[in-house]
Amino acid sequence: MQSDAVADPSRYAYYELGDIRLVRGEGVRVWDSEGREYLDCISGTFNLLLGHGHPAVTAAVRDQLDELVFAGSAFQTDATNRVMELLVQLSPPNLTRVNLRSSGGSTANEGAVKIAQLITGRRDVIVPFRGQVGQTLAMAGYNGLARMREPFPHRFPGAVHVPEPYCHRCFYRQSPRDCGLLCVDRIEDFLTCASSGSVAAMIIEPVSGVGGNVVPPEGYLARLREFCDERGILLIFDEMQTAFGRTGHLFAADCFGVAPHMMTVSKGLTGIGLPLAAILTEERLTGMERSLHGFTFGGHNLSAAAAVATLEIVRQPEFLAGVRATGAVLLERLRELRAGHPCVGDVRGVGLMLGVEFEDADGGRSPALANACNRALLARGVITRVSEHGRGNVIELRPPLVLTEEDAHLVADRFADAVAAL
Ligand SMILES: Cc1ncc(COP(=O)(O)O)c(C=O)c1O
Repeated sequence: MQSDAVADPSRYAYYELGDIRLVRGEGVRVWDSEGREYLDCISGTFNLLLGHGHPAVTAAVRDQLDELVFAGSAFQTDATNRVMELLVQLSPPNLTRVNLRSSGGSTANEGAVKIAQLITGRRDVIVPFRGQVGQTLAMAGYNGLARMREPFPHRFPGAVHVPEPYCHRCFYRQSPRDCGLLCVDRIEDFLTCASSGSVAAMIIEPVSGVGGNVVPPEGYLARLREFCDERGILLIFDEMQTAFGRTGHLFAADCFGVAPHMMTVSKGLTGIGLPLAAILTEERLTGMERSLHGFTFGGHNLSAAAAVATLEIVRQPEFLAGVRATGAVLLERLRELRAGHPCVGDVRGVGLMLGVEFEDADGGRSPALANACNRALLARGVITRVSEHGRGNVIELRPPLVLTEEDAHLVADRFADAVAAL
């Protein structure tokens, strides 16, 4: 069904609109109002894990639409019960409880912080530089980019920002070969000198997404977990971008072999882009009553039906193996670009969560080149995104996990063509 096109939508929208009007999507492809086809290498907004309109998931949603669209939080439904059961069964064994009452990532992260503060009786939250944990006023205060905090003078206090494990441009000018994970040890100084002295939790994206697809070095997350355990700090993995197969493993926790004390998930949970989020916690962290953290559309029954269908697909070992294989092909092809193009710097990633750095002649970051390449890719029918909301120097690729090897080559061919045209 197609509604009439609005003549000048920019007259009504509060924010600036993009030029392209999308009208249809299927799998990894979308089409605009002019009939142009694009490969959607950012999966909507990193949330369409199974692409546009996966048949098994849309069928589940249609069935649910006929049965029961919504139920208030005082009631159970079969779909929400099953989502909670699956999340507990599939996540690391220490995570035994699910709070399903948020509909987005920012509010799930806020819920995790509330739990941490309630249980520990402490206050501050550690967040890595360039970390992106959400857009509500509280999460805006926590984001690890000053640009995202600056416009809001009354933001929520208590964030302690620490250097992220960004080996390619290490804050401490070390090499991962022999640094001894100095960036974890030095967090101690931030606790001593830059916190209120009362630290409840640390929230970290296991692979920093918006911050530039930063993959931590071997052993980093395990050492971080020890560091937090030693100090009674709760470690929260924000797995908005990394969960449900994105890394080639069900969770980044599995990919890196480290279980957090809490995990927050949203984005890909429903496979095809319906809103739903969850906070997973250890048994000992229960106690925050329902009324203290719940949102009207949290635990939405339609989304829950989509999530059940999605989890049944992404949990399959052959599905995850496919993500690892396709991701390896695309990573290798993108890495080949470094040979003939000095502007292509570090190319990194896990599974189908990939990033390509752009550098100037001195090896410094080049947001200008990254944005030029992003535009050149769009002109060639490939949708990507630039890190730090367009201000970074990394092109982010997160195609739907149903990307075929053939399409991975097509993306790489067009990427090579775009870089050559810079
Ligand atoms: C890592 C991460 N955490 C949290 C959020 C916030 O999620 P939401 O936009 O659903 O509130 C995002 C959104 O982009 C994200 O990428």
